[in-house]
Amino acid sequence: MSENLQGKKILLGITGSIAAYKAAQLTRLFIKAGAEVKIIMTPSATTFITPLTLSTLSKNPVWTEVSSEGSWNNHVDLGLWADVMIIAPATATTLAKLALGLCDNMLVAVYLSARCPVFFAPAMDVDMWHHPATQRNVRQLTTYGNQMIPVGVGELASGLSGEGRMAEPENILELINEHFSDGPLKGKRILVTAGPTIEALDPVRYLGNRSSGKMGIAVAEEAARLGAKVDLILGPTHLRPAHPNIKLQLVESAEEMYQKARTRFPDCHAAVLAAAVADYRPAERAEHKIKKTGDQLSLGLVRTPDIAASLGKEKEQQVIVGFAMETQNEKENALRKLEAKNMDFIVLNSLNEKGAGFQHDTNRVRFLFRDKTEKNFELKLKSEVAKDIIGELQKLLK
Ligand code: C5P
Repeated sequence: MSENLQGKKILLGITGSIAAYKAAQLTRLFIKAGAEVKIIMTPSATTFITPLTLSTLSKNPVWTEVSSEGSWNNHVDLGLWADVMIIAPATATTLAKLALGLCDNMLVAVYLSARCPVFFAPAMDVDMWHHPATQRNVRQLTTYGNQMIPVGVGELASGLSGEGRMAEPENILELINEHFSDGPLKGKRILVTAGPTIEALDPVRYLGNRSSGKMGIAVAEEAARLGAKVDLILGPTHLRPAHPNIKLQLVESAEEMYQKARTRFPDCHAAVLAAAVADYRPAERAEHKIKKTGDQLSLGLVRTPDIAASLGKEKEQQVIVGFAMETQNEKENALRKLEAKNMDFIVLNSLNEKGAGFQHDTNRVRFLFRDKTEKNFELKLKSEVAKDIIGELQKLLK
């Protein structure tokens, strides 16, 4: 059941929660599965379980401090050594520190230095878990590409009952084993466009839009997690993907995105076009900053290339998934795009929906298909919406 863990290098971060006792069992399971385990504990974790127990189980020293006995413990080496880092249990404090990059202990220093995928298994009381601060930190961490191991529901150390229990070691083992499996999309190459495009007016100003790139990045991460090689063509946003299977190409304008997408598309099995591409750009880009003159200024605009329509024309076996963001006649307009751009299905998100669309971490979507059928979904995290999209895409790839 845990055949993929043989020889894998696992860095286990343990923080100060009652659930720290589960980390001992988790360590045993990893070792039994043939993995190599190195452990870092926060100072408060050592009040719940001793480093001696964990070093005995892991057959390695346990790190608790950035320096000990006058010498420096190299957090960079540990971060680079690992194939995967798992923080279990992850307390509210540690989640906050990770989200902020507040590096006041060895565990956070290693986390910031690690280049491998990071999983975290929150553990806390139900009200702490539901607090907006915790929820915001968890969302923030997922936007860095870190993967949350969902909390369980049940009896808590406080005597209360509800969400907040750390996932069981057996479930974490299974998840990490799955992480190292080849994945159902192995051998597939997927093109994803994401983020806004910006169209320069002069050396200072541009025409842009409010897209954050979150949805497209989540799609790229999910495809990569399932084993696909992903070409992500990303417009200007501060967000970056984390998965090593994602090849990132940064662009600014619709024209640049178009050129890159056309080059990559023939080698791909599918394209998910989540970018909010500008439909028009200034007819001319002024060489110098445009000066204030009269009360009015008219801008001449010209059409940009339609990437989706162009790939739709060229497509052979490829599956194309598009997005539509509408403010009126949503379904009608989206269906028209689906046909006109020769897409296989279109993800419709509405600006009228609270918590959905631009900038949000959540989205509420509908999938519309060529045969006029549709699928409706609840409001959920964009990482979850990405799973629905890639799940549907997978069926079409078969
Ligand atoms: O027509 P509209 O721009 O609303 O269509 C949205 C879909 O088309 C999205 O999938 C978007 O990424 C794609 N698109 C594109 N190139 C454009 C405009 C939109 O790929 N120039």
